[in-house]
Amino acid sequence: MNLVFPHTFIPWFRAVAPYIHMYRGKTFVVGMAGELVAAGKLNNFVQDLAILHAMGIKLVLVHGFRPQVNEQLAAKGQSSRYHLGTRITDAIALDCAQEAAGQLRFEIEAAFSQALPNTPMANATVRVVSGNFLTARPVGIVDGVDYMHSGVVRRVDAPAIRRAIDIGALVLLSPFGFSPTGEAFNLTMEDVATAAAVALQADKLLFLTEIPGIHEDLGNPESPIDTEMALADARRMLSQLPPPSQPADLAYYLQYCVRACASGVERTHILPFSVDGALLLEVFTHDGIGTMIVDEKLESLHEATADDVGGILQLIEPFERDGTLVKRDRTEIERDIANYTVIEHDGVIFGCAALYPYPEARTGEMAALTVSPHVQSQGDGERLLKRIEQRARAAGLDSIFVLTTRTMHWFIKRGFAQVDPDWLPEARKRKYNWDRRSQVLVKKLA
Ligand SMILES: CC(C)(COP(=O)(O)OP(=O)(O)OC[C@H]1O[C@@H](n2cnc3c(N)ncnc32)[C@H](O)[C@@H]1OP(=O)(O)O)[C@@H](O)C(=O)NCCC(=O)NCCS
Repeated sequence: MNLVFPHTFIPWFRAVAPYIHMYRGKTFVVGMAGELVAAGKLNNFVQDLAILHAMGIKLVLVHGFRPQVNEQLAAKGQSSRYHLGTRITDAIALDCAQEAAGQLRFEIEAAFSQALPNTPMANATVRVVSGNFLTARPVGIVDGVDYMHSGVVRRVDAPAIRRAIDIGALVLLSPFGFSPTGEAFNLTMEDVATAAAVALQADKLLFLTEIPGIHEDLGNPESPIDTEMALADARRMLSQLPPPSQPADLAYYLQYCVRACASGVERTHILPFSVDGALLLEVFTHDGIGTMIVDEKLESLHEATADDVGGILQLIEPFERDGTLVKRDRTEIERDIANYTVIEHDGVIFGCAALYPYPEARTGEMAALTVSPHVQSQGDGERLLKRIEQRARAAGLDSIFVLTTRTMHWFIKRGFAQVDPDWLPEARKRKYNWDRRSQVLVKKLA
């Protein structure tokens, strides 16, 4: 074995371990756009799903088939008709949809059956189960448009799906459902995946889509992807976007994510299938690759006001006493209160952090990051960090830095790197306490 290899492999593998432990036994619903298959990415994607499956994650896969149905229609000399992103399914389109679904199911099952040596599928055994798990009803006539055989999910037989995934099968759902009279309806992958995730109360709903996620600046496709968005913000954004006219419109996926989150699926994700391994990157790395919408009751996270000064003092005082934090008096906190973000629950402040910008150096200091000892290790430190990063980006800063004597590893794990104190902006360097010998850590904001 290459002697250098273990030095990189072992830390890398161990860094992934917390996610493996965390997701074991959890349920993920994955919605895959038909474009993923059309782009020739099915095999790699199936390999990634097989890895999640091997790690004890219970999987429901829902495939889309828009381009495949369009192809079938084109072969029959027919054109595809949509209204507000939903297909209008006449009798010919329904035929095409059935053919496309049959073909795709076949391809997906074939991909899961691969087991060639020296491929990620060697030794993999993923049994795929499909069936009539969905009851549908017609979309009907909306705004004068008759959707004909297009339907929406009426009910998901969650107990039957649960039984299948509990014995280790992967459940594959096609966007088809049947009415109690036995009539078939063409559904959308997004509706099916959302309904299944809600019915199963899945831990995650992940969409593999044509869009890369949600850009921080919606008007600028060059701006970074917002890796985490609170449900409240997603709702606000959705209300400001025009109604989607095609799946590539952001509002299209966003509406399903919001619906799932609001109905008890804590985390929903929009990921680009164009990035090889997007699913693994999202699930097993800290920042992920697309946008995750989270219902974490982020309403409790807010910018501080004068009313919060007492609560902040109470929270940080024990850490000042034991030397973890530098002493700040009431006047100082009162003066700088607008720099603080707090986490509050039932009127009690149990987390805070402050951002002190140094615009001349395009950086800012995150100070006084504290989470009450009673509620540590529940991700609140991380939520505060994310909010400070957002505030820093909004202020046009390229990086944030912290000074710490005891919490270095927490920051390094979250993308900070140590630098020499000389790196500090001049104004901050003048206040640096050389006796305290704090380490300086910087995180570049993507
Ligand atoms: C650092 C701190 C804000 C983290 O808050 P939190 O809400 O517990 O953070 P998260 O839930 O996002 O992360 C928790 C993880 O960080 C780890 N962690 C906590 N303190 C750490 C430290 N000093 N060094 C390394 N890791 C640490 C926890 O063990 C936990 O790991 P686990 O999930 O594997 O159990 C909190 O521990 C705190 O208030 N510490 C005292 C004040 C302080 O040191 N502030 C930083 C000043 S520069």
